[in-house]
Amino acid sequence: MARLEILTFPDERLKQVSQPVETFDDRLRQFLRDLEETMDGGPPSVGIAAPQVGRFERILLVDVSIKPKIKNHGRLFLINPRIVAEQGQEVAREGCLSVPDFTGNVSRAETIELEAQDPYGSPLSFTMTGFEARAVQHEMDHLDGLLFLDRLVSRRDLFRRKKYK
Ligand code: NI
Repeated sequence: MARLEILTFPDERLKQVSQPVETFDDRLRQFLRDLEETMDGGPPSVGIAAPQVGRFERILLVDVSIKPKIKNHGRLFLINPRIVAEQGQEVAREGCLSVPDFTGNVSRAETIELEAQDPYGSPLSFTMTGFEARAVQHEMDHLDGLLFLDRLVSRRDLFRRKKYK
């Protein structure tokens, strides 16, 4: 196992578009363990995307269960995720392991229908709402080379963090 280095803004590599995963092998699953160790080893976080550690494949790890009283599906490895339907819009504050010095207000769909594959290539589908849906949308943006900084509601909706914790 290994903790991986997290790329941070303004690293140009964060703008790269990631490729679909085609091979669901032990190498992939080893990477997933490293990604998990990286997320768990850093400041508390509800998600991480493969391109944040320099692997430009469509892979997310999302786990909002550390937040109390939030509807969630637990710890999810989501490979090749796709949003197939969405409903509502809501503005809320977001942070990012790759943007450690800031948080910002971003508008996201309130409810999403998500399809993805698990670490063995089997299909997954979820209906997600609220904070979990937001976390997935945030992480999916990383796969397309976008940060929350690219989606701020306005320039006044960017806030400096005192300390990431
Ligand atoms: Ni992020």
